[in-house]
Amino acid sequence: MTDDTETDADADEINFRSRRWVRPEDLNANGTLFGGSLLRWIDEEAAIYAILQLGNHRAVTKYVSEINFVSSAKQGDLIEMGIRATKFGRTSLTMRAQVRNMITRRSILTIEKIVFVSLDEHGVPVPHGYSDITYGRDRIPFERE
Ligand SMILES: CC(C)(COP(=O)(O)OP(=O)(O)OC[C@H]1O[C@@H](n2cnc3c(N)ncnc32)[C@H](O)[C@@H]1OP(=O)(O)O)[C@@H](O)C(=O)NCCC(=O)NCCS
Repeated sequence: MTDDTETDADADEINFRSRRWVRPEDLNANGTLFGGSLLRWIDEEAAIYAILQLGNHRAVTKYVSEINFVSSAKQGDLIEMGIRATKFGRTSLTMRAQVRNMITRRSILTIEKIVFVSLDEHGVPVPHGYSDITYGRDRIPFERE
């Protein structure tokens, strides 16, 4: 669930805007957080971030770098996720993601590169025209045909 706070105290830091509660349906056979659930949450978080940065609701996942699950979470734990843009390309946006367990205070994973591409109505990459991060709501793509 996404926090609506719009201020970024430290522009160099990732903001952990999104939190999740680990529920029974998110567990693997080991009784810990299922990696697939976590990846779905991260992909959704990255999609929302990319849409708000690129001003285009047609932003799709192109590339995800190595994922190393360094610790996990148990049922009832609270986890928090943070995404930050690291590179604005011509049609792409590269982001870094971090997830940590709020209960154990341990990092769960870091993904160095998640690349989304801005597409036009034909599914073809389209220049987004942006080169820096917005912390406001100025690029929200209000219009959908
Ligand atoms: C997104 C898609 C249209 C891009 O097609 P493409 O032929 O690779 O397009 P381009 O070569 O023009 O590359 C587009 C951008 O992606 C970047 N890119 C392409 N391959 C990349 C890779 N492996 N890693 C990182 N960036 C990559 C390019 O550098 C370019 O960025 P830039 O314009 O900022 O320089 C196409 O790959 C696609 O439809 N993929 C499926 C997307 C999808 O459905 N995702 C959801 C999960 S299934």
